[in-house]
Amino acid sequence: DEYRRQAEDTHAPAYLRLRRAIRTSVERGALGPGHALPSERELARHLELSRVTVRKALAGLVEDGVLTQRHGAGTFVAERIVKPLSKLTSFTGDLRARGLNPRSVFMEREVGEVTPEEAMALNLSPGALVVRLYRLRYGSDEPLAVERSAIPHDIVNDPEMIEDSLYEVLEKLGCRPVRALQRLRAVNFNAEQARLLDVPEGSAGLALERRTFIADGRLVEYTRSWYRGDAYDFVAELQGES
Ligand code: GLP
Repeated sequence: DEYRRQAEDTHAPAYLRLRRAIRTSVERGALGPGHALPSERELARHLELSRVTVRKALAGLVEDGVLTQRHGAGTFVAERIVKPLSKLTSFTGDLRARGLNPRSVFMEREVGEVTPEEAMALNLSPGALVVRLYRLRYGSDEPLAVERSAIPHDIVNDPEMIEDSLYEVLEKLGCRPVRALQRLRAVNFNAEQARLLDVPEGSAGLALERRTFIADGRLVEYTRSWYRGDAYDFVAELQGES
C-alpha cells in the first residue's frame, strides 16, 4: 500500500519509490524487526515491477541496514541494528530509520575545561571549554549504548540545547557534520557500563571513537561510544586494491 501511495506522488524511479516505501513502513512500525518480506518474485508480480527493480530496491535497503538477507531463507527486516561503517550517521538517525524510538538519559551535560585527551582529540589548547555529554542511549525501551561526547564550547554555547540528537542541534547551528575519523575496537564492558546497559559485567561490546569535522574543517565532536555487542552489526562495502 505504501508503495502505491508513493507511486502516486513522486516521479522518482520505481526502485527508489519502492525503497522509500519499504523504509517508511519499517519506520512506522508496519513492518517490525524480523518480519519476512515476500520473495523478490512475489513482490515483482504483486507490484507489477520488474525483478531487477525489486532487487535494486532491496539491495539498497540491505546496504542501509534496514533489511537483512539470509541466503536461501529470504529477506527480513533487520533485528540487530545494522550500521553501515562508511556513513556518517547519528544514533538518532540510525534508530529512527529502523522504526525505533531513540531516547537518551543524561548522566552529564555541562560546560567544563578540556581534559588533556579531549584537547588532543579536538585540537584545542589547554584551558579551552567544551560541552561535555555523558548519555545512556535507548532504542525504544532497550539501553543500547553509552556515549561520552565533547563539543567545543564555541560551537555549542548552551549544553541545554541538546535534548535528543546532537547532530540535529549541530545542523540547526549551521555546523553539519561532513566527515569523521572513526576507530572501532572490541571491549568487555566494565561494571559501570554493564550496569547502565543492563548486561552482565564483562560482556562484549564495541568501542567507537569518532572525531567529526564540519565543512570549514573545524572539529565539532570527540565522542567515545560503547555499543552493545549483542545488538549491533557494523557493515562496510569493500573495494579491492586496483
Ligand atoms: C553516533 C556516533 C557519535 C555521535 C552520535 C550522534 O552514536 N557514534 O559519535 O555523537 O551518533 O547522535 P545523536 O545525533 O543522536 O546525538
